[in-house]
Amino acid sequence: MAKRKHRAKPNQSRPTPSLRTYPVWDAHLRASHWLITGLFGALFLSGHFGLGPTWLHIWLGYGLITVLLFRLGWGLIGSDSARWGSLFPAPSRIMAYLPLLFSRQPSRWPGHNPVGALSALVLIGLLLIQCLSGLFVETWSEYRGPLAERMPRSFMMAMTDLHSVLRWPLLALVIVHLTAVFAYLGLKRENRIRPIFGNGELILDREPTLEIRGGRRAWTTWLLAAALTALVVWLGPVY
Ligand code: HEM
Ligand code: HEM
Repeated sequence: MAKRKHRAKPNQSRPTPSLRTYPVWDAHLRASHWLITGLFGALFLSGHFGLGPTWLHIWLGYGLITVLLFRLGWGLIGSDSARWGSLFPAPSRIMAYLPLLFSRQPSRWPGHNPVGALSALVLIGLLLIQCLSGLFVETWSEYRGPLAERMPRSFMMAMTDLHSVLRWPLLALVIVHLTAVFAYLGLKRENRIRPIFGNGELILDREPTLEIRGGRRAWTTWLLAAALTALVVWLGPVY
C-alpha cells in the first residue's frame, strides 16, 4: 500500500483565513474509537448491572479484544497520529504543553497533545488488562473466561478479583476523558469530538507533517487481530 500524503484543501467557510482543516485521524483509528466506545459501554452495562446473558458479555469481550489487538498493531504500522511514538510523550513535552492546556485558547494540536496522549495510553492499557483478566474469570455458574481452566486456581481467583475491581478505575478514567474533551469544547472552544467521530479532520493553523495510512495494511492488521482472537475462542469452551 503506497503511503498517501494529504494536501488538505482550504476550508473557505472558516472565519480566520489562516485556519484550515487537515486530515489527522485515519478511518481505521476512528472506527476503532467508535467500537471501543460502544463495546466498553455495553460491557460495563452487562458486567456491572448483569444486563443480558453472560455469553453476550463474553462475546462482546471478544469483540473488544479484537479492536484492542488492531489498535496495538496500528500503533506499530499505522498513520503517524496513531503511532506509539506519538503516545509516549517526553516529560519535557508534557511540561511545555501545560500552559496551553490551561489557556482558554484552542490548542490546535495536530493529533494527541502530550497530556491527551498520556491519558489515551493509560486508557488503552487499562482496557487491555481488563480484557486479559476477563479471559481467566471463574464464576460459580456454567460460564467462565475461555482460558480459566488452563490456569492454577490461585491465578484464576486473582484475575477474577482484578476483573471485578478494575471497572472502577476504568470508569473514572473514562469520566476524566469525557470531562477533558467537553472542557475543550466549552472552555477552549475547540471541537475535537466531531473529528474523532466524523471525518478525522482537525482545524489547524499550519499543515501537519503526517502520513495517513489505511488500505491493505489496515485490513491485514484487522485480519490478524481477528485471527488471534479466534485462537483464544477456540482454546476455550464456546458458549
Ligand atoms: C472493558 C471490558 C470489560 C469490562 C468493563 C467488564 C466488566 C465486567 C464486570 C463489571 C463484571 C462483573 C464482575 C463481578 O460482579 O464481580 C464482569 C464479569 C465477567 N466478565 Fe467482564 N468485562 C470486560 C471484558 C471481559 C472480557 C474480554 C471477558 C472474556 C472474554 C469477560 C468475561 C467475564 C466473565 C466470564 C464474567 C463473569 C460473569 C458472571 O459472573 O456470570 N469480560 N465483567
Ligand atoms: C461519547 C463518548 C466519547 C467521546 C465524546 C470521546 C472523545 C474523544 C476524542 C475527542 C478523542 C480525540 C482526542 C484528541 O482530539 O486529542 C478521543 C480519543 C480517545 N478516546 Fe475517546 N471519547 C469517548 C469515549 C471513549 C471511551 C468510552 C473510551 C475508552 C473506554 C475512549 C478512549 C479513547 C482513546 C484510547 C483515545 C485515543 C485514540 C487512539 O489513539 O486510539 N473514548 N476520544
